[in-house]
Amino acid sequence: MGGLCGGYSRSQIPCKTGIAVAVCQWDELKLLDTLSRKYEFALFLDTGMPRKLGPLWCRNQGDITVINPYDAEMGNADSAARFRMMAQTAVDAIVSANPDGIIVFWNDAAEKMFGYSAGAAIGQPLTLLMPERYRLPHRQGFVRYMQTGVAHLIGGTVEVHGLTREGHEFPIELSLSVWNGIHGPCFTAIIRDISARKKIELALQQKTVELEKANSAKDSFLASMSHELRTPLNAIIGFTGTLLMQLHGPLTPEQVTKLSTIQSSAKHLRSLINDILNVAEIDSGTMELHPEPIFCSDILEEVAARLRPAALNKGLLFEVAPMPQDIQIHTDRRILSQILSHLVNNAIKYTEQGRVEICCNRRKEHEHHYVDISISDTGIGIRPEDQRRLFQAFTQVDTSSTRRHGGAGLGLHLSRKLAALIGGVISFHSEFGRGSTFTLTLEGQVP
Ligand SMILES: Nc1ncnc2c1ncn2[C@@H]1O[C@H](COP(=O)(O)OP(=O)(O)OP(=O)(O)O)[C@@H](O)[C@H]1O
Ligand SMILES: [Mg+2]
Repeated sequence: MGGLCGGYSRSQIPCKTGIAVAVCQWDELKLLDTLSRKYEFALFLDTGMPRKLGPLWCRNQGDITVINPYDAEMGNADSAARFRMMAQTAVDAIVSANPDGIIVFWNDAAEKMFGYSAGAAIGQPLTLLMPERYRLPHRQGFVRYMQTGVAHLIGGTVEVHGLTREGHEFPIELSLSVWNGIHGPCFTAIIRDISARKKIELALQQKTVELEKANSAKDSFLASMSHELRTPLNAIIGFTGTLLMQLHGPLTPEQVTKLSTIQSSAKHLRSLINDILNVAEIDSGTMELHPEPIFCSDILEEVAARLRPAALNKGLLFEVAPMPQDIQIHTDRRILSQILSHLVNNAIKYTEQGRVEICCNRRKEHEHHYVDISISDTGIGIRPEDQRRLFQAFTQVDTSSTRRHGGAGLGLHLSRKLAALIGGVISFHSEFGRGSTFTLTLEGQVP
């Protein structure tokens, strides 16, 4: 183009009132050459300051039309208009640059994010939006892409930092794509301000660290207290038992009653401590499993023998339904017994009259064998609205100060965790006022 622009020499470019003519670096403006074929034009800048590529004011047969550099790169006015419409309403900042890395499109969100108006940003290099440390790598990457077509960022999303007009850095998520402009490859960046997300991530990380610390403090507290808590209780239970056996001489009926109360309270406390320690052990992943083949009839008889007296004391019928003798499972005996004890205990505890029944069935589903062990009662049942809270730790349905049933609300929570540990699940069905059935389902062995 030499000294001519749009068919005019520098001095011939018509000067409009109030608007200084600005023709910037003649050689660089290939764009002008293209436009000059379409328009008889002059290039002005609203500020009067020479600038590389601002919005182009073109005079086309007497009318002044604004030609945006982006439209000029796109070539196709329809596509450009459609893109502009979409991009202006986007929540993310959308910035396009021409093959020289000069901003040619800038949406409203970009203005809000970086603090530059479209007029101030368009025509500036992309590096304006980055902290100093990114500028050299950006230029090198740009040159490499232009020469070799090899790009590291294009087509992907990266987390970097942006720089506002005030010089404030903020974290952004940047997705970069490339498209063919009429003068070579152009770039469009979709930029999301992730300051809020980063703040939340950081807070979460800090919370996680705090929680991990608190958790490991709790674990070591429980591990060391485990011994300290259980040893004295065992001594109380053991020596009360010896006294009750009257080996050291006869006791009065009142002494027997009081010693029995001491013994049962200590046992209650020990079982509560055991439950809490068990939950801690499961949570810290230190509970060991010792699976072995078990006949269901054996384990159910064992649990029933232990808990039957409590049911009979309340005047309840207590039954173990007849079952095939050969139903077998391969699991940890102590854990299974613990789960069943919790469920049977609950059935007895929450039933005032009627019966508690234990039954065991096997079934086959999709080539898998399952064993269902159910404990049914004719007790108080559970209201539908209370049912989703049952398995939460330290949760009891009846929280009134006059509640009739003691307990920590830990039995079902622990049972569900123990069941998961041995690959089982606990389900239930309950009708308020009529009774409940809790079922433990385990993988069975092929008969
Ligand atoms: N068979 C049942 N019938 C009616 N309600 C039940 C039954 N089993 C459990 N619940 C309800 O579920 C709640 C939670 O049971 P869970 O066994 O976890 O705690 P708990 O029996 O109250 O105390 P813990 O078992 O720790 O001594 C109970 O408070 C009770 O309201
Ligand atoms: Mg319970």
